[in-house]
Amino acid sequence: MSEENKPTITPPVTPKPVKESLRQKLRKTQVWRSMFRHDYKDTPKNRTLAIIGNVFLHLHPVKVLRGAVKFKHTWCMGGLSFFLFLVLLVTGVALMFYYRPTAEYAYSDMKYLQFDVPFGMLLRNMHRWSAHAMIITVWLHMFRVFMTGSYKPPREFNWGVGVILLFLTMFLSFTGYLLPWDQLAMWAVTVGTNMARATPFLGHEGPFGPQLGMRPDNDVRFALLGGTQVGAPTLLRFYVLHCIALPFFLLVFVTVHFWRVRKDGGISGPL
Ligand code: HEM
Repeated sequence: MSEENKPTITPPVTPKPVKESLRQKLRKTQVWRSMFRHDYKDTPKNRTLAIIGNVFLHLHPVKVLRGAVKFKHTWCMGGLSFFLFLVLLVTGVALMFYYRPTAEYAYSDMKYLQFDVPFGMLLRNMHRWSAHAMIITVWLHMFRVFMTGSYKPPREFNWGVGVILLFLTMFLSFTGYLLPWDQLAMWAVTVGTNMARATPFLGHEGPFGPQLGMRPDNDVRFALLGGTQVGAPTLLRFYVLHCIALPFFLLVFVTVHFWRVRKDGGISGPL
């Protein structure tokens, strides 16, 4: 066989080793795989796994109706109410560093915070304005839920949870109003708690109150005030309600509320 006709043998091509990036290496580690248990390709299955495998994301349903997430359907009022609540929590805790809930110090602590503490005025106003705004957004949220008929089955239970949230929000606002311990606070709470006299069954001037043995010194108003008129015990009671009890219950019910939105198939679609 001549040299020309000899078959040429091409050596096998060994594939060039692909260099793994640091990120790819990290994703292969056991630590990473123990936390993120899904692949990263944008496929419907991976999207689902990403959502159900994450404690925060799993609050969202895997699929949502396109119309339901449109701004004009919800006005974002539920989400904004929650956002404002978070602002109130953070600024409220910061305010607690400067405020003592006693008749002796409360007023002067607020003045000190406002005029001497750096950014104190900003802090106080952030808390105040967020509280005003939350009242408005919660009412608008309820109005929108009503207008879109979202209180109908299967969401009637969540409407009930919402009513409790509305009550808690209003009561938080009312208890916070006394804390500056100025004239406005004293008289606003005097007027507000006087209404409690007329509570059915529980107020000494309310329907069936006297028949049930309610007196000015044992009815619901007395329980709120810690006395027969606004005074130092009222301040302490309102402080504890405002800073511990009411935020705690609001957080519990908001959790149920969000869980229920999720279980009822996500936000209702536009009619
Ligand atoms: C602290 C107060 C509240 C917060 C933070 C809150 C938050 C939310 C959020 C984020 C949603 C998802 C849809 C949206 O943003 O509109 C929602 C849905 C809903 N909320 Fe509230 N909410 C509150 C009070 C209320 C009140 C006062 C009611 C009625 C009495 C209510 C009844 C409902 C109902 C029925 C749904 C389901 C609506 C649907 O599927 O379209 N909520 N809420």
